[in-house]
Amino acid sequence: MKDLLNGRVALVTGSARGIGRATALAMAEAGADVIVHYRRQREQAEAVAREIEAFGRRALLVQADLEQEDQVHQLFNAVQDAFGHLDILVANAAATAFKPILALRAHHLERTYRLVVWSLIWAVQRAAPLMEGRQGRIITLSGHGSRFTIPHYATIGSAKGAVESLTRYLAYELGPRRITCNAIAPGVVDTDSSRYYMGERFAAFREAVSRHTPLGRIATPEDVARVAVFLASDLAGFVTGQVITVDGGLTLTSGPFEVDGFGPEPVR
Ligand SMILES: NC(=O)c1ccc[n+]([C@@H]2O[C@H](COP(=O)([O-])OP(=O)(O)OC[C@H]3O[C@@H](n4cnc5c(N)ncnc54)[C@H](OP(=O)(O)O)[C@@H]3O)[C@@H](O)[C@H]2O)c1
Repeated sequence: MKDLLNGRVALVTGSARGIGRATALAMAEAGADVIVHYRRQREQAEAVAREIEAFGRRALLVQADLEQEDQVHQLFNAVQDAFGHLDILVANAAATAFKPILALRAHHLERTYRLVVWSLIWAVQRAAPLMEGRQGRIITLSGHGSRFTIPHYATIGSAKGAVESLTRYLAYELGPRRITCNAIAPGVVDTDSSRYYMGERFAAFREAVSRHTPLGRIATPEDVARVAVFLASDLAGFVTGQVITVDGGLTLTSGPFEVDGFGPEPVR
């Protein structure tokens, strides 16, 4: 991984914690200067910036609420002022209200869609000119819930469906500018959001996920981050418009074979 991204400038949205943090650090370790974007977690973002600097890379800390178009512009103005260009955009930040469809109100939909879908378009409109003449890389985050049903997940699941579709359209429209766009679709990752979603049942859920995953464990943020580094690097220069699943094989399994113990024999 070392040196794969030497001399690149990467912006990772929502990089104070979770997958965004791991991605920012992995990119710095691979040689990139990194813009650490956060919304509320200033202290955690500062800690990430210090870790990036410890790799000998430059870190720029920028606060922005990406539901607001003017704040997306402020974020990119800061990138432009500090670096003048951008090589890698990782559109990672996301949030939602977990509710059944029948309980949804307009503001639930609006907030999730502004952050996950609209802000991707606002960001790309600013990122593409900054990638002019470079081998631009756009990496989006989709997830298990875009293709598979998860309780109370319809809002963000459908928004991630839109992200996957936009990923293909971005690859198509930006290919002539030598910009690639690919999505990473993690399965279940051990982060604050998974723990919040499951509450006190998290430990039992992690066990269940591990049992249903051929590789035998829940994903870590670093599992996802390493794939982001690969997609950002020259190694993936001819890969575009793809959704790369990073789930240890969780989505290969099919319900009844697993719950009734008809799955593969455990290794003894
Ligand atoms: N965890 C999983 O199991 C999983 C599975 C599949 C896909 N994913 C996807 O992977 C990505 C990262 O997931 P995660 O679990 O690491 O997330 P997380 O721990 O919940 O972190 C979310 C990040 O988004 C930022 N954010 C939230 N609302 C924002 C807003 N309005 N404006 C700007 N930033 C905002 C947060 O910033 P602050 O903390 O500063 O507020 C935080 O850094 C998401 O796109 C998620 O949908 C996750």
